Order: sequence, then structure tokens, then C-alpha cells
Amino acid sequence: MIYQQALSAPYTELSEEELASRARAARAALGDRVVVLAHHYQRPEVVTFGDFRGDSLKLAQLAATQEKADFVVYCGVHFMAESADILKRGSQQVILPDLGAGCDMADMAEADDVADAWDELVAVHPESDLLPVTYINSTAALKAFVGKKGGVVCTSSNAQRIVKWALDLGKRVFFFPDQHLGRNTCRSLGMSLEEMVLWDPEQTQGGLSDASVKEARVFLWKGHCPVHMMFSAKQVQALRARDRHIKVIAHPECAMDVVDLADEVGSTEFIVNTIAKSAPGSSWAVGTEMNLVNRIAAENPDKRVVSINPFMCLCGTMNRIDLAHLAWSLENLVAGRLENVISVEGEDRAFAKLALERMLEMSV
Ligand code: 13P
Ligand code: SF4
Repeated sequence: MIYQQALSAPYTELSEEELASRARAARAALGDRVVVLAHHYQRPEVVTFGDFRGDSLKLAQLAATQEKADFVVYCGVHFMAESADILKRGSQQVILPDLGAGCDMADMAEADDVADAWDELVAVHPESDLLPVTYINSTAALKAFVGKKGGVVCTSSNAQRIVKWALDLGKRVFFFPDQHLGRNTCRSLGMSLEEMVLWDPEQTQGGLSDASVKEARVFLWKGHCPVHMMFSAKQVQALRARDRHIKVIAHPECAMDVVDLADEVGSTEFIVNTIAKSAPGSSWAVGTEMNLVNRIAAENPDKRVVSINPFMCLCGTMNRIDLAHLAWSLENLVAGRLENVISVEGEDRAFAKLALERMLEMSV
């Protein structure tokens, strides 16, 4: 259980302007000793502190190349900070400003449950025929399990390439934790729905018949992102009924019926770049977290950018990183206090690194 101590005064009492000015001063005092990585879903007032902004892949690649800084302050969620710690080159300390910044989807797959499911699959198939692929939105323990079994991590940017690689090896793929990324990716590779099955960890043998387990080419863990479940095909149809020129762009964590209707599908970085490069005057409906949709709208005043869901909300855990926690973290570093260090140790570190490095090798 990860626990974030409550901040106390002055952080609880300062105005946003005061917090921003203290964070700026601490950032300046640290100079080259700190690198701030910011995921695209971060709050507007936090994202401006990022030396780099990006999706999970870009930030993992950047974490693997920072050699100079003593500290990486990760404005994102826990699994991202863990990956940065595992991939770092030097002896940097990775700091997550609020330890409560987890990921609801990552919490849907415990390493022990996945290992139990694996044993059930191995009772039916030779282990050498199976290959585990974990979405980067997973704990380091789960990445370590994958690394130990010869598997690999993927992100929303490289899932297609990585799953294709596994299938081309003739393997049956066990994909977790996001059933939707897994399903959308396999469909984009031309696979039929009949070749994939949903593995429900709450049920014996995933709730599947002996015949399904024997025949399936892909096993999809029953996990999802609650944020991306808030988009529906009906909303897309309603938008198109009002504006027949509107283009729909969705993150692959969205359900299959939304992705099927979208004009473009890809990671947060892909969404940012695609809309930035589009023609002035174009209209976009976006299926991803709301901080990012608002930012894209603000940065593209010559285009109309809306959410697919008119009542869309933020990712609550990404939003745990606020100015108060950022100022607190940076000021702690200035004072030489190490708080909220994310560190993956021992066997987990070694095997998770293997699985992450396999991914990076396949992403160049
Ligand atoms: P990206 O890698 O596309 O940034 O996705 C991360 C994520 O958590 C999406 O919900
Ligand atoms: Fe996790 Fe969903 Fe938030 Fe992404 S948007 S960090 S998958 S809960």
C-alpha cells in the first residue's frame, strides 16, 4: 500500500501564484541537478515545469538517457516513475511528487494473480508456446514476471509492433492489464475477435472453457482504464451528425466500437502531433483525458478541438500532482531532503529492466 503523507503549512496555505513562484525558485536553484519529466495528462500549471513532455514511451526513452542530473522529478503516475528508475543510466534519484498518483488500470493486475493465470495456461499449452506482453501501465513486479518469462513491455505507441513480433514468432500472447489496447492492437493486425479471449482473473481458468483456452491465440486480461471507458460510439455518432467534417481521434485504451469509428488512433503524443499538423480550420473530437484535450484546444486556436464526451473528466490519479506537491518536492531537494524516492530493487529490478529494454530495442 502506497501512502502519501498529507502536506502541511505553508504548502496548504499558499495561493497558486505563491506556490508557482516557490516552485520556480527551487527549480532555478537546482539548475542542471534536476530534470522534470511531465506526462501529457498533467495539470496545466504543472506541465509548464516539464523540461520534457511526452507519452509513456517518449518519457521512458528520455529517462534512459539522462546522465547528468542528480534527480528526475516525474510528474506522472507511479508506474512511469518506476520505469524511469529502472531505466536510468546514472545514479539519479527518481521523485514522484505525490505517492498517491497511481493508475487504476495498473491496479487491476496483481503480479501474483497473473502468475496464477500463467500456471493455468501452462497446464494446457507448453510454456515455450506462450509469450506474456504487459502494457507499461503495470507494476514493476508484473514487468519482472514478464521479463523472467522472456516477454516484453509495450506502450500505446509500440503495441502494434510488439504484438506483431510475438505473433510472428508463432506464440500465443497473454496480454495485460488492458483488454482494450490488446483487442484494438490485435484487430489492427488483422486478427478476428474469435481468435482472442477475455481472461477474467476472478474466475477459475479465466472463466473460459477448455476448448477456448486450447484454441485462443491471444488471452486478454480483464482490465481497463476507467477514464477511457467514458467514451462511447453513440457520442461519436452524435458528433458526426452535428458536424460531418469532424475528425475523430482516439487513444487505443478506448473500447473497440469507439476505435472502430475513429479516423485516427494512437498514443497521447500521436494525438498531440496529429492535431498540431492538421489543416487550419479543421475540427477534431478527441477520445482521451481532459487536461490534454483542453491543452490541445488552447495550443491550436486555429482549429476546433472538443472531447468526444461533452461531460468528460480528468484522470484523478494524474491530477494528484499539483503545484503544492511539486513545490514541496523541489524545495525538499534544495534542502537536501529526499522524499518520495521511487526505487525498484533486487530481482524485480533486474527482470523488469530486461522486459523494458526489450521494448526500447524494438522501438527505435
Ligand atoms: P500514453 O503512453 O499514450 O501517454 O498513455 C498513457 C496512459 O496512461 C493513457 O491513459
Ligand atoms: Fe491509468 Fe487511465 Fe489514468 Fe492512464 S488515464 S494513468 S490508464 S487511470
